[in-house]
Amino acid sequence: ADAAVVPALVIGTGYGGCVTALRLAEAGVDVHMVEMGMAWDTPGSDGKIFANTTTPDQRSFWLRTKTKQPLSNFLGFPIDKSIPRYTGVLDAEEFAGITVYQGRGVGGGSLVNGGMAVTPKRETFGEILPSVDPAEMYGTYYPRANAELGAALVRPEWFESTAAYQYARVGRKHAQRSNFPYVFVPTVYDWDYMEQEEAGTVPESALAGEILYGNNHGKKSLQKTYLPKIRATGRVTISALHRVVSVVPASGGYLVTIEQLDTTGGVVATKQVTAAKVFFAAGSVGTSKLLVKLKATGALPNLNGEVGAGWGDNGNVMCGRANHLWDPTGSLQSAIPTLGIDNWAAGGAFAEVAPLPTGFETFASFYLSITRTPNRARFTWNPATNKVDLSWQTEWKQVSIAAAKTIFDKINSKEGTIYRTDLFGVYKIWGDHLTYHPLGGAILGRATDNHGRLHGHPGLYVVDGALIPGTTVVNPFVTITALAERNIARIIATDF
Ligand code: FDA
Repeated sequence: ADAAVVPALVIGTGYGGCVTALRLAEAGVDVHMVEMGMAWDTPGSDGKIFANTTTPDQRSFWLRTKTKQPLSNFLGFPIDKSIPRYTGVLDAEEFAGITVYQGRGVGGGSLVNGGMAVTPKRETFGEILPSVDPAEMYGTYYPRANAELGAALVRPEWFESTAAYQYARVGRKHAQRSNFPYVFVPTVYDWDYMEQEEAGTVPESALAGEILYGNNHGKKSLQKTYLPKIRATGRVTISALHRVVSVVPASGGYLVTIEQLDTTGGVVATKQVTAAKVFFAAGSVGTSKLLVKLKATGALPNLNGEVGAGWGDNGNVMCGRANHLWDPTGSLQSAIPTLGIDNWAAGGAFAEVAPLPTGFETFASFYLSITRTPNRARFTWNPATNKVDLSWQTEWKQVSIAAAKTIFDKINSKEGTIYRTDLFGVYKIWGDHLTYHPLGGAILGRATDNHGRLHGHPGLYVVDGALIPGTTVVNPFVTITALAERNIARIIATDF
């Protein structure tokens, strides 16, 4: 055991963790960040840090021996393949009723996500975080988050002319012809870099289909935004391939037990450190699993009964449409989506026009919809398996499918087109088995106070997507970042 007491220990290095570590360090607090995934700073034998979507390898998946691609099939054929078990960047974590995709590594979900940086419309904010004052979010914290993350819009002239967004222009045309409002969404991809990719002057990344398993160049993940600033403070240590397994009250704060992993997932050492304050930033699922286990096993007995509750999937559901031969979507597709169809007010669905970066013409339009759904699941400790279960039921996605159909049934009928049935199995239209947007499990104002302080154990905080009650109406990371900025400002002012 380390004799020194760490003033602040942050579990996880995604959006919530990075915001927290940066602001604490800037305020003069020494911080130790613990991340179970890899550092992702060293190229593999092919000279690249991350693998491509078309050629997944061991770097692509967290501790699996076979890929589990979100689109499991093409023309009905399964496309998953064997890979060596490795601490890869994308975790497809399976619960009984849903597979939850998450990033693993220094940078968390920012390493694998699509980079869509969407601020919800102010009139929807009450649906997202009813206990938070919208004036402070829209006046201070959303602008701060967007500035730090580098969110920006595509250059309109380039969007209209580039082959790489033909799929998005087709998606827009179909939305317009059915009278759906469409929006350009900001992204954290470096748009100048993408234009240079097309011009052939820099190595390709978005235009080479790099998404899901990491981007080697143009995406401004946390590795290019918050993390360099964190390092520049000189006050933060980051331990990659270290997983927190326990947090127990101890004199001086909390005794934190950490397992060091090798790249096959094996435990090579167990370490303990005392931290005055502990910030849970392990993501909605990671934070919820830890808290539920620690409460049930008596390590943190005073956590309240809201721990584990209120988890949602942001209403994620996927589908494809088969276009006519005169409506090709292009063999070159930028991996970064930037157009959304907004039918939230009328139908409870916001659909992003997503790429299918296969490298050949598919005549398919592909969509990830975010939908309004009342369904919320709970994490519970299962003493028989020593694991945390999630009560989500696959049938609960029917509400989301119905919402998504308010957009795509209408487009199909207007265009005389049909749904693709070959992307998620054989004769299966809806990708209803997964989410990219886990939210909740330690809800703000219920498991914690209105700034993320966990009830029952002073000095413990939740700072990530676990705080958000199941939906952000749009893609979540800007809201997660902005909420973390809001909460840590208050915590630094009052708790340090
Ligand atoms: P996040 O999940 O980012 O970070 C948690 C970190 O904690 C991880 O690095 C994890 O390894 C680590 N950890 C977990 N348990 C631990 C333990 N016990 N010990 C140590 N470390 C531990 N959002 C969006 O707004 N726009 C988009 O375009 C997309 N697209 C998208 C695509 C895909 C494929 C995915 C998987 C996700 C998205 N998202 C997205 C969602 C977005 O990435 C997600 O909401 C955020 O990353 C969540 O941020 P958090 O800070 O909550 O945790």
